[in-house]
Amino acid sequence: MDASVLLALRDPAGVPFYPVVFQALYVLTWALHAAFVLLALGSMGLSIFGTFKQKSDSNWKILTPHLLQTGKISISILIVLGVAPLLFTQVIYDPNWYVANTLSGMWIFIFIYTLVVGYSMYYWYYYANKKNEGGGKLIGIISFLILVFAGILMHNFAVTSIMPNEWMNMYAPNGVVDNSGWTFNMNIVRLAFMVSLAIPVVGIFLQNYSRFLSTREDFSPDFIKYTASLGTKLGVIGLIISALCFVAWMLQIGYLFNPLSLAIIVGVVVLLLMVAKNSNSYITTIVLVVVALLISGMRELIRFDIMAKLGYSIYEYPVNLELPSIILFLLTFVVLGGVGVAWLLTMAWKVGKNQGIFDGSKDVAVTKLGNYTLAIMVLWMVIYFGWGMTILFNNIL
Ligand code: HEM
Repeated sequence: MDASVLLALRDPAGVPFYPVVFQALYVLTWALHAAFVLLALGSMGLSIFGTFKQKSDSNWKILTPHLLQTGKISISILIVLGVAPLLFTQVIYDPNWYVANTLSGMWIFIFIYTLVVGYSMYYWYYYANKKNEGGGKLIGIISFLILVFAGILMHNFAVTSIMPNEWMNMYAPNGVVDNSGWTFNMNIVRLAFMVSLAIPVVGIFLQNYSRFLSTREDFSPDFIKYTASLGTKLGVIGLIISALCFVAWMLQIGYLFNPLSLAIIVGVVVLLLMVAKNSNSYITTIVLVVVALLISGMRELIRFDIMAKLGYSIYEYPVNLELPSIILFLLTFVVLGGVGVAWLLTMAWKVGKNQGIFDGSKDVAVTKLGNYTLAIMVLWMVIYFGWGMTILFNNIL
């Protein structure tokens, strides 16, 4: 692939701010997306196991509906958080993303329906299980497989987008144009690594779950102990599987001794020790976040290197500074996002820690954060629409 082709595929308008900022935001937001993908797949998979034990085992009777709920919420968060890396990737790697979307156009359509059907069936599974203990097994399994398939499709788009040298062959195999949109590429080792991470993530989640509920009187010490030890087992086994898959992936692409790859391996070993000891799972979670960021960085490094070898560097993307839009974006992300998420998290934490019914309107912190969020949201809407209308009318009148 000639660099001039890649450069010609860039947006002629350039990027509105320094590419390195978009790159950092990509790494950050993909890690967030991945965290909820893994929690969703992990908790969903474990909940299906739970449906088989729920009737006869008192621990699984409590745990299964909680896992189902966790999966249900995580899917909605992963969808929202998937949009952010999508935006950043199409700003700095638009040649890659749009070529992949064109070559795999049919799969892109199918992806949307896969998600709609898979998530709708999840609700079916959720209500079937709520109505009937141990219910919804088959629907749950089908929904799980459909959502895993959505991940495989995402993987296809990611992998196709980093194969610029093969694009011509995919577009016109043997010189005959194929515009069917059925291009599909997989790297099983990379995919296995990504998906295997769901096991340690749900393990660490269970350690947190147990720690969080340990202060409540309505959960028996036996249940707390059981969930903590289940979390430890899943965490340890899962981390070993993921570590092996990661080493295999790095060997395959020749990155095993890259400093970032070594840092990930060290991070995984530290995680393994912390999970096995389980002295404070909240701190383990912080280390997990760091490792997730490193993994996200690794994905970006692989893509960056492939493109750099072809003469495409995102740092040379023409910058057409547009400060107002980047300032609005960053303020929205940090101020509205920060305060809004702080409000939701504070409320969720207090609801979980409270013994009886929690009344948010009587809690000072929750009320204050709620009021701030509302006020900032109203202000945001006034600025966003007011500004947009002003620019629109200035341009057309
Ligand atoms: C159940 C649904 C989903 C699953 C299981 C899933 C899973 C994954 C996985 C495993 C990857 C990594 C692929 C790889 O690097 O090999 C990925 C990447 C990604 N996903 Fe998702 N995803 C889902 C839904 C979404 C949605 C709804 C969006 C957007 C709205 C999204 C946006 C992205 C983006 C932008 C990437 C990075 C692509 C790239 O770097 O080229 N995902 N996803």
